Amino acid sequence: MQKKNKILEVNNIFSGYGETEILHGVSIEIYENEIVTIIGPNGCGKSTLMKTIFGLIRATSGNIDFLINDELTSINNYDTENLIKKGLSYVPQSDNVFPSLSIEENLEMGSFIKEEGMSESIESMYDLFPILKEKRKDPANQLSGGQRQMLALARAMMLKPKLIILDEPSAGLAPNLVSSVFETILTIQKAGVSVLIVEQNAKAALERSNRGYVLATGENKVDGTGKNLLKNKEIASLYLGRK
Ligand SMILES: Nc1ncnc2c1ncn2[C@@H]1O[C@H](COP(=O)(O)OP(=O)(O)OP(=O)(O)O)[C@@H](O)[C@H]1O
Ligand SMILES: [Mg+2]
Repeated sequence: MQKKNKILEVNNIFSGYGETEILHGVSIEIYENEIVTIIGPNGCGKSTLMKTIFGLIRATSGNIDFLINDELTSINNYDTENLIKKGLSYVPQSDNVFPSLSIEENLEMGSFIKEEGMSESIESMYDLFPILKEKRKDPANQLSGGQRQMLALARAMMLKPKLIILDEPSAGLAPNLVSSVFETILTIQKAGVSVLIVEQNAKAALERSNRGYVLATGENKVDGTGKNLLKNKEIASLYLGRK
């Protein structure tokens, strides 16, 4: 099997808010074209980890490397705009579309830091997600919950990232829409992008993930392939009760 390139390596990071340390040494890695899911109880630091990777808060210790120009490069001190330029994209859990702007305007916002190639990118998003083309003039607040997540993901794809970070993409959606969000994520993977997901719908996410990590109180607990984590009895009893 061809060996894949590592695109992100988070090594023993400590991070938090002011005096409050939330992550006490977390390590994860992601390879090209992988879907990796992070699960763990509420408040264990999953969103804090995402925000630290994306430069919204700073690690106080440890290292974060990202593949830039074919080399793993420390991004500890990169700001968010620079990270976006280097191919990292992040979709927060809530407020991830502009509700009063049209679908097309939302997509345009996805490439506000680089307008070159914008119309081609919009067209390629419409090819991937035809429903967005159909509704392109409608305000985003007229979309269903699942379509809104699709738009948020499409917007995150506008600058052709190498890695997209999704914080709870299926949160708050009706069960029948959860699978449509995962269809969208698989579409993104097929387009050659790696995806790091935080999910409460652990079963649905792990079933579609190459690998997963379980965090507990700001530390790594278990990791493995999606399949093996699904088979793990302790994980199943703690996290897979929800369908
Ligand atoms: N802006 C903030 N300032 C101070 N503390 C925060 C802030 N955001 C989160 N926290 C605290 O950090 C801890 C971890 O929060 P975080 O949002 O990373 O957890 P999570 O694993 O994403 O939880 P959930 O599953 O509920 O989304 C919690 O105790 C939370 O109260
Ligand atoms: Mg969270």
